[in-house]
Amino acid sequence: MEKVTADRVFINELSQHVGQEVTIKGWLYNLRSSGKILFPQLRDGTGVVQCVAVKASVTPEIWDALKGLGQESALAIRGTVRADSRAPGGYEIDLIDAQIFSEVHDYPITPKEHGTEFLMDHRHLWLRSRRQHAILKVRHTVVKAVRDFFDNDGFTLADAPIFTPAACEGTTTLFEVDYFDGEKAYLTQSGQLYNEATAAAFGKVYCFGPTFRAEKSKTRRHLTEFWMVEPEMAYATLDDVMTLAERMLAYIAGRVLVDRVEELKVLERDTAKLEAIVPPFPRLHYDDAVKMLHEGHEKGLLETRFEWGGDFGAPDETYISSHYDKPVMVHHYPAEVKAFYMARDPERNDLALGVDVLAPEGYGEVIGGGERATSLEFLKEQIALHELPQEAFEWYLDLRRYGSVPHAGFGMGIERCTAWMCGIEHVRETIPFPRMLYRLRP
Ligand code: 4AD
Ligand code: MG
Repeated sequence: MEKVTADRVFINELSQHVGQEVTIKGWLYNLRSSGKILFPQLRDGTGVVQCVAVKASVTPEIWDALKGLGQESALAIRGTVRADSRAPGGYEIDLIDAQIFSEVHDYPITPKEHGTEFLMDHRHLWLRSRRQHAILKVRHTVVKAVRDFFDNDGFTLADAPIFTPAACEGTTTLFEVDYFDGEKAYLTQSGQLYNEATAAAFGKVYCFGPTFRAEKSKTRRHLTEFWMVEPEMAYATLDDVMTLAERMLAYIAGRVLVDRVEELKVLERDTAKLEAIVPPFPRLHYDDAVKMLHEGHEKGLLETRFEWGGDFGAPDETYISSHYDKPVMVHHYPAEVKAFYMARDPERNDLALGVDVLAPEGYGEVIGGGERATSLEFLKEQIALHELPQEAFEWYLDLRRYGSVPHAGFGMGIERCTAWMCGIEHVRETIPFPRMLYRLRP
């Protein structure tokens, strides 16, 4: 095979090469044979195409080499592109020549059903399968949409550090690492505190990176390492943040609907659910959410009667969101269950100006955020109350000493958002290599 590189095309470009002779480089996805014809299906990362190799038209060497190939063998083929409406993807290739790069006979993942543990142990290979491929393509679009949304809206990207000297979201979920000379550092739980500094410098900022929570939660929504995008705005309120959240989510859903049509088909996603994600989203006061939960309990739909003052569990969130076909924004949570930095409702000091955005279809909280406390004295008290070391927060307190203004922001977990967009059960499939309570490998 001579012109291996010269006319190489990708499978998602085949429509531009009908009637032409091209080279495709990829891996064997499947091989069927019917006597004197072989139907190798090739995948190359951009799609899957079926080739047709007729025994009488190829050399005996090529026929023999192709005939024995197992799934995931690596090969390049040359052939002529033909439009075929019956073919998956709409094109087929009449094979002329082939070059085998790597012959495989015992690929561990076969079309038969495998258990989740087995697949997770083989995550490095599982990524090649159609469904995983589709999910990670959606993830890429979610990430791209997030960046475009903020970049086009006057936000400056100002990333926060990953090694931090103190907690942001409470001390119970910190991963500790040895820094130098006996000093401890912690993997960041959220870039928010740093965002508050950069927001005072740039006005509107976002950070976007990995965050870590040593959460011993074994649920379909929890990872120990996840990616979070966090916008923060100076001179902004709880209302501003809710408006920003609904605009962002609508933008993401819109982009996924347009850019990932094929992937949503592979995932059998009900796209009407995504089309419904348009502003305005319902806004629900915590008190009213609690009333709703009480009704649910009275109707026998919720096992236990929810106590005012607590944080919602997954069944509570699912019940609340089941009333809407859009995300619902629950605001004014009891300060008791929220982080130390939350601003208080001036009329009801026990309530925090915080919001959780609960996605429909049982996906639960995808966004958490709110307005930040502005008073130096109040924050000093809160830091003490939460038993946080004040010296580690002196720089943060400087933001209240020098030009403190109302400001607000939120954080969205990329994996929870992606799972929701895809309509899949568990966040573990939305990141290439998930880290969870019982999973550090591969
Ligand atoms: O609600 P959280 O804890 O909020 C914060 O960290 C704020 N400091 C953000 C801010 O205001 N800048 O987390 C925000 C979001 C959640 O709504 C959820 O989507 C995601 O991060 N998240 C997780 N995703 C996967 N696994 C976990 N263990 C997660 N914990 C939070
Ligand atoms: Mg939260």
